[in-house]
Amino acid sequence: MAEPLRVLLVEDMVTDAELVMHALKRDGIDAIFERVDSEPALNDRIGAFAPQVVLSDFSLPGFSGMAALELVHRVSPQTPFIFVSGTIGEERAIESLKSGAIDYVLKTNLARLGPAVRRALEHAAERAARTRAEEELAQAHQRQRMLSRRLIRAQERERAELARELHDEVGQAFTALKIQLEMLRRAKDSAESATRIDDCAEIVRAALAQVRNLSLGLRPPQLDEFGLVSALRSHVERMARTGTTEIAFEADPQIARQHPDIEIACFRIAQEALTNALRHAQADRIRIMLRINADTLALIVKDNGRGFDVRLANEQALRGTSMGVAGLQERALLAGGTVRIDSEVGSGTEVVARFPLKPPTRGQSGH
Ligand SMILES: Nc1ncnc2c1ncn2[C@@H]1O[C@H](COP(=O)(O)OP(=O)(O)OP(=O)(O)O)[C@@H](O)[C@H]1O
Ligand SMILES: [Mg+2]
Repeated sequence: MAEPLRVLLVEDMVTDAELVMHALKRDGIDAIFERVDSEPALNDRIGAFAPQVVLSDFSLPGFSGMAALELVHRVSPQTPFIFVSGTIGEERAIESLKSGAIDYVLKTNLARLGPAVRRALEHAAERAARTRAEEELAQAHQRQRMLSRRLIRAQERERAELARELHDEVGQAFTALKIQLEMLRRAKDSAESATRIDDCAEIVRAALAQVRNLSLGLRPPQLDEFGLVSALRSHVERMARTGTTEIAFEADPQIARQHPDIEIACFRIAQEALTNALRHAQADRIRIMLRINADTLALIVKDNGRGFDVRLANEQALRGTSMGVAGLQERALLAGGTVRIDSEVGSGTEVVARFPLKPPTRGQSGH
């Protein structure tokens, strides 16, 4: 059973108030009532009683119905307000409706009161639902704007990094090569030529390795050709070679190709979580697992390092100081998945991303 309706009566005549209560009861409306007949009392009860509807007489001694309407609108704009009064004349009735009263009902025709109250309540509920929907939409827009701002910032940062590597590493290699080739032209004997040629070959080998690393970082070719498991395995092997942390990779053998949106999201999340673990965790062991069941692909990146305060990191991400942890969430969301980060200072971190499976449609590129 629903709670009784809270009705506030602005009425100086006790007998009239009783008639109003009776009319609502007769109409099957279960209600509790309070009655006020002065401005301070109305002001007080609006807050304390929190009525769901206000029924007000039009003229009271020392206080007017219009003043009551104005007060209710100011203090509690969402509460519907209905005049219940003696004959007030057409002009004043119109004026009252223009000022925001939902309805007016004549005391001589209280049979209209029940339906008027019901309509007012429906109206208020619709308005509340609309306000809620608008607020949710506004929040979604704000989130969207923040997301695209962050994505643009991340893209610019990536480009700056790429430009720097191209300029510093690859550019310098070519400059060195050019110098060596000029010396080679001026070489006095074949022994010197041979040394210069060896130097050139070494420079080219190193530059090739640089370019290969750059392109792997931009987009690992295995991902498109052989899929997530293979790309992730070779990424993990590459990362393991560069340090002393033990990194284990395990994938359920039945994992097949997935929708490209999921493969790239999962790969990037693993990449960021692994980089974070290597960079921040001071762990001696990191495990990366890919698990699959009938409807979900799960990625787990777990380290036994020092852990961190996830809430704090998220707040920092919102202020734009770091990007990775927030980026994980967004990557997952864009592919229809979720990410959960469990971390406690002193006891390691576990990042779990889950993706509901979509049928793989190769060639349909979502990135
Ligand atoms: N596995 C982890 N172990 C310990 N601390 C972590 C781990 N992952 C993240 N952190 C902490 O959370 C912070 C935020 O991580 P996040 O990836 O957002 O930023 P970042 O790695 O510092 O920078 P970037 O934007 O380049 O990723 C890190 O600075 C670090 O303090
Ligand atoms: Mg990071």
